[in-house]
Amino acid sequence: MLLDLWKRTRRIQFKGEINLVTDADRRAEETIVSMLRTRFPDHQILAEEGSRGGTSSSFRWIVDPLDGTTNYAHGYPHFAVSVALEVDGEVELGVVYDPILRELFMGERGGGASVNGRPLRVSSVREMLRALGCTGFPYDRSRFTATLRRWEYFVHRLQGVRRDGSAALDICYVAAGRFDVFWEDGLAPWDSAAACLIVQEAGGIVTGFRGEKPDIYRGDIVATNGMLHQAMLQGLMESGLVSDEEDQEGDAAHE
Ligand code: IPD
Ligand code: CA
Ligand code: CA
Repeated sequence: MLLDLWKRTRRIQFKGEINLVTDADRRAEETIVSMLRTRFPDHQILAEEGSRGGTSSSFRWIVDPLDGTTNYAHGYPHFAVSVALEVDGEVELGVVYDPILRELFMGERGGGASVNGRPLRVSSVREMLRALGCTGFPYDRSRFTATLRRWEYFVHRLQGVRRDGSAALDICYVAAGRFDVFWEDGLAPWDSAAACLIVQEAGGIVTGFRGEKPDIYRGDIVATNGMLHQAMLQGLMESGLVSDEEDQEGDAAHE
């Protein structure tokens, strides 16, 4: 459906200054949510465009019907659908689908990760200078100071840095060994829930910026091949600001 709508003229609305939503986001969400409601009427649903579901179940589906909306709206072929299942607060299952390359990334806690049925394994790159990294910028431009400091720090130390515009897919690329490291702050749970599990199941490490257990509801995520994780955490410290909140506190202190 996303591909079909992509080939037609897209109807674009703005949720914020640069944050878009298209008819495709809404239609994809309606389709996914109606399937979930039919199969699992009492399960909770948390979906980006506002759909919610039952509240009493310990099962919660976390849905991004179209991750990479800006890419989609501009005809840049890098976007995905992300669906995760959380059980009692832990993500147990994650699926990310790229309809352009027809790649279906899947991960199940304790059951491994795969793409189109082939097992996934993170890269074995050990040196920052040999690593390809990826990150993203938040829609909230007031948070750019910290983001750009981190970008500047890593662009000098990694072999290359990409900003590819679909956090769910970008994180899956760490699981596939295409990227060696990924970091981003300000992510929503539907951006990272499925993909973080897929990286862990592919042998990688995922934490918050300070090395703590990742919290998809807080938004700061570092996902790596494991070998480069310490170097990334060190880099986040050395780039001066660990989180945007610190940046804002810092800005307030200077006023
Ligand atoms: C966005 C993408 C982007 C990331 C943003 C997300 P959306 O999701 O994942 O890569 O940098 O933070 O909000 O809006 O395209 O679903
Ligand atoms: Ca998203
Ligand atoms: Ca989205």
